[in-house]
Amino acid sequence: MSDDGAGHGAGQGDATDPFAVFDAFTGSGTVRDPYPTFAALRAQSPFFRGRLEQAFGLPEMPQIMTAKSGEYLVALSWEAVSQVLLDGETFSSAGYGESMGLVMGHSILEMDEPEHRTYRALVQQAFTLKAMERWERDLVAPIVHALIDRFADRRRADLVRELTFPFPIQVIAAMLGLPEDDLPEFHRRAVELISIAVDIERGFAASMALRDYFATILAERRREPKEDVISVLAHAELNGQRLTDEEVYAFLRLLLPAGAETTYRSSSNLLFGLLTHPEQMEALRADRSLMRGAIEEGLRWEAPLTGIARTATRDAVVDGVAIPEGAVVGVSLGAANRDPRRFADPDRFDIRRDARQHMAFAFGPHTCIGMHLARMETTVALNALLDRLPELRLDPEVDDVHVTGLGFRSPRALPVVFG
Ligand code: HEM
Repeated sequence: MSDDGAGHGAGQGDATDPFAVFDAFTGSGTVRDPYPTFAALRAQSPFFRGRLEQAFGLPEMPQIMTAKSGEYLVALSWEAVSQVLLDGETFSSAGYGESMGLVMGHSILEMDEPEHRTYRALVQQAFTLKAMERWERDLVAPIVHALIDRFADRRRADLVRELTFPFPIQVIAAMLGLPEDDLPEFHRRAVELISIAVDIERGFAASMALRDYFATILAERRREPKEDVISVLAHAELNGQRLTDEEVYAFLRLLLPAGAETTYRSSSNLLFGLLTHPEQMEALRADRSLMRGAIEEGLRWEAPLTGIARTATRDAVVDGVAIPEGAVVGVSLGAANRDPRRFADPDRFDIRRDARQHMAFAFGPHTCIGMHLARMETTVALNALLDRLPELRLDPEVDDVHVTGLGFRSPRALPVVFG
């Protein structure tokens, strides 16, 4: 379980490079392959009693939720994960308020019903099918192609640094209608916001700076709406209810980690799966009707965000295990996705399998709002790579390219050659 990385050589000292800063703060972690441990624990019980880092012999990490009772469990089976996520009344999301809420504000992530339902219906107005079609044509495709233009003639590239890392944040900035010149500053602040676990002051400073930045734009859009997400949020209405400015800021701050970090990692993971299974890459190149299945299988096989959490509001029994009121229940999306009771031969990457019921986007009331967007972004990026880079393969001169991390997983680099 060592992490020697595939080595892009970026150190923590390089404060001008968003990838280096991001990588240093979020840390790809030291766990290279958590799945054998998940499998061994799940074979004993659908829940692990304790905090996940204990199962991996790691030092204590900052928790995304704290148990007042001191009791921690982690749901590992597909059945346990789906039951916990489906029952938002017994398993509350409010505990996020003590961690992420500090920098993000009171966001949708930490809301329970009925507040969550109303808020979600309001923000969902920004994610319509029509908006998706416009984003695909006007934002995502041009951004992806412009990034590929920079390396298409070179015959080699690192697809993480040159494509999968930069493109989702550019898409979000464009969806929000931010001026292009603001992108570097926006990206830096977004990265610093996520760094809260290791640098509290920096995280808070970024949170305030983003609030001030969004305040100016929100005021403009309230006066004069445009076609972007901030304008939709500024004017969204449901039964006479509207979003307050603070609610809009909280949502916008959440979009950065929720929409950019996950999509960067999931598209990297799918590319890793295809590059290490060249026969499946070629099958997909030849038959794009396999794309949908490939994207779901990438998300199942290597979920970019492997765990979320809930707090038990009352005693409950889940998949045969008693959960005491007050316990924090970690929800291992990664373990559920490799549960052999749900997916046959779960460690095998197979774009032809039926992976639709995976848990990478969670389940129940908080199911990811951006899942259609994430799928569309990945489809555009992958189609562009397959169309433009013939004979795309891992660079044979670089050894040991691999996925790494415990909470978040992805390869640190994808060195490829083509053409
Ligand atoms: C592959 C990419 C993505 C993955 C794997 C992913 C995963 C998740 C997961 C697991 C949750 C549930 C969190 C919880 O309940 O504790 C979630 C919620 C959410 N995601 Fe995503 N996400 C992705 C992309 C996106 C994108 C592109 C956006 C928007 C631009 C987005 C916006 C959100 C929001 C707003 C929520 C909160 C929903 C709620 O609480 O009701 N996500 N996502």
